[in-house]
Amino acid sequence: MSGTYASSSSSSSSALVVFFLYVAAFCCIFGIAEAQATTDPSEVRALNSIFAQWKITANQRQWNTTGDPCSGAATDSTDFNNNDYNPFIKCDCSFDANSTCHITQLKVYALDVVGVIPDELWTLTFLFNLYAF
Ligand SMILES: *[C@@H]1O[C@H](CO)[C@@H](O)[C@H](O)[C@H]1NC(C)=O
Ligand SMILES: *[C@@H]1O[C@H](CO)[C@@H](O)[C@H](O)[C@H]1NC(C)=O
Repeated sequence: MSGTYASSSSSSSSALVVFFLYVAAFCCIFGIAEAQATTDPSEVRALNSIFAQWKITANQRQWNTTGDPCSGAATDSTDFNNNDYNPFIKCDCSFDANSTCHITQLKVYALDVVGVIPDELWTLTFLFNLYAF
């Protein structure tokens, strides 16, 4: 009788360990996802395509189109209207519990871009501010 009790106690404590490992792993994954929000991949493709068609590139020291476009100045407190940042985007990274970024603002001002609006622009469905030409 006491043997049965001991074995059931040890199996429930190992179940507890497994439970805590599971919780710890879940927290880790969630924490990483929260720390490194990534841009909606269809918006990354759209932005790169738009910039390629307009033959413009981001200032890599400010934000990226090589890595994740919602990086650096695109997500920090830099003012969208700051003239030193052109072209420029701003992102909202609060989607999916802070794990997904959507491009909300796009500035392409007086950069002598070819005067067509690429179809890809309509992929940026979260865009509420377009400052171009
Ligand atoms: C641009 O991307 C590279 C590679 O992903 C990264 O190392 C760098 O910090 C990024 N720059 C900015 C300003 O976010
Ligand atoms: C997202 O980040 C903001 C600012 O850091 C924080 O206040 C909020 O609680 C976060 N939301 C979630 C769901 O993690």
